[in-house]
Amino acid sequence: MGKNTLTITDNRTGKAYEIPIEHETINAKHLRQIKVNEDDFGLMSYDPAYMNTASCKSQITFIDGDKGILLYRGYPIQQVAEKLNYLQTAYLIINGEVPTAKEYDEWSWNITHHTMIHENIKKFIEGFQYDAHPMGILVSTLAALSTFYQDAKEIKDAESRKLQIYRLIGKVPTIAAAAYRHSMGLPYVYPDNELSYAGNFLNMLFKMTEPKYEPNPALERALDVLFILHADHEQNCSASAMRSVGSSHADPYCSMAAAAAALYGPLHGGANEMVLHMLKEIGSKNNIPSYIKRVKAGEVLLMGFGHRVYKNYDPRARIIKQISEEVFEVTGRNPLLDIAIELERIALEDEYFIKRKLYPNVDFYSGIIYQAMGFPVAMYPVLFAIGRASGWLAQWQEMLLDTEQKIARPRQIYLGAKERDLQVSKAKREAVHR
Ligand code: SDX
Repeated sequence: MGKNTLTITDNRTGKAYEIPIEHETINAKHLRQIKVNEDDFGLMSYDPAYMNTASCKSQITFIDGDKGILLYRGYPIQQVAEKLNYLQTAYLIINGEVPTAKEYDEWSWNITHHTMIHENIKKFIEGFQYDAHPMGILVSTLAALSTFYQDAKEIKDAESRKLQIYRLIGKVPTIAAAAYRHSMGLPYVYPDNELSYAGNFLNMLFKMTEPKYEPNPALERALDVLFILHADHEQNCSASAMRSVGSSHADPYCSMAAAAAALYGPLHGGANEMVLHMLKEIGSKNNIPSYIKRVKAGEVLLMGFGHRVYKNYDPRARIIKQISEEVFEVTGRNPLLDIAIELERIALEDEYFIKRKLYPNVDFYSGIIYQAMGFPVAMYPVLFAIGRASGWLAQWQEMLLDTEQKIARPRQIYLGAKERDLQVSKAKREAVHR
């Protein structure tokens, strides 16, 4: 094989430029030397929605979209979901290795002892309407937390970053549960430090008058695995928001509020909520063909299908589908599952979806499980955010420690008006409208 470089010939000048190839990528800054005149700005690359642009170097998550492979710090998602719990996975994603027993004890103790939220935060949540969407509450409350922890601005201090990481992984479920209890008109439930991470979340959501909440072990494990499957997914829209806002050295609470806001979108984490609305709209297997027809006509999207990176079955969707059977043994079979399975069967045989490499993604089956577990539909993206909090923090910290990174500030192709005189333009427009 030849040299690891790219030779570009600028046909405007006949000049050739040799550009180094690193990690199967060229650094866009090398394009700037390509000019016609010395005082030109030089060439840029144009890539709307970053379809083919690497924004960073990362060691956290690897995805092979064609093969449907997902690795957390090199470990296949199937092994992580089977052998670790969520807090061990969060440690792995953030610190790079599976924690030893001693490391895990310190990690889980610290997170457990940061699950409480300031009583004033509860007053803050009280300010929302009873039917406020819990993602709106989560986004706002994450930003509000930054006013309680002024020390979080010390983003260059490793100990401060570690403390904020404990606080955020500990408090996101508490805020999520408080948003749910507020919407139900129920009193808030304090964390129970004797329960697991997922068990305590179920406690803060569903405890009523019993002296001690006892989570169903099958549901507790299923929820913990769902958090694992949602923990990180490289440079997705919300992780990019976390990195971009964090790159201005905003504190991690405001950065995570931006990430959660990005996740809320129906094309991203809000899709699990939209899948349930879609399945309910379809209503029965008999109506699937007419819905597919609407999808092909471009009237609606098949929510929970398709992915920017996966052009194969999302490995997470496969695991979630397996979990659903365990959950339904406890909760009873969700009739929407039969519609989902038939919808998947039909779509995977249909040329429209095959040609576009549209397969079920992580959101297709997760909502059906959440519904069977008793979560209201609006809570689904919040459940996604709980799992993804560790991934956002890992991406945020990796960005801060990357010496090649600085404040994110893309360029643009300007196609607007050339310089013009305001008075002259105003007079011309008045004259036309007279
Ligand atoms: C998540 O990035 C991540 O990693 C995200 C995520 C994570 O863990 O962080 O994996 C989580 O967000 C999963 C995706 C959840 N969203 C949905 O399920 C919403 C439905 N899916 C689509 O909106 C879409 O598939 C995206 C947004 C997920 C991906 O869109 P792309 O990569 O921009 O692809 P595209 O829109 O260019 O689609 C290519 C073609 C188009 O058709 P043509 O214009 O070529 O005719 O496929 C079509 C699209 O119209 N298409 C769909 C479709 N998704 C794409 N047609 C019908 N239904 C769909 N779901």
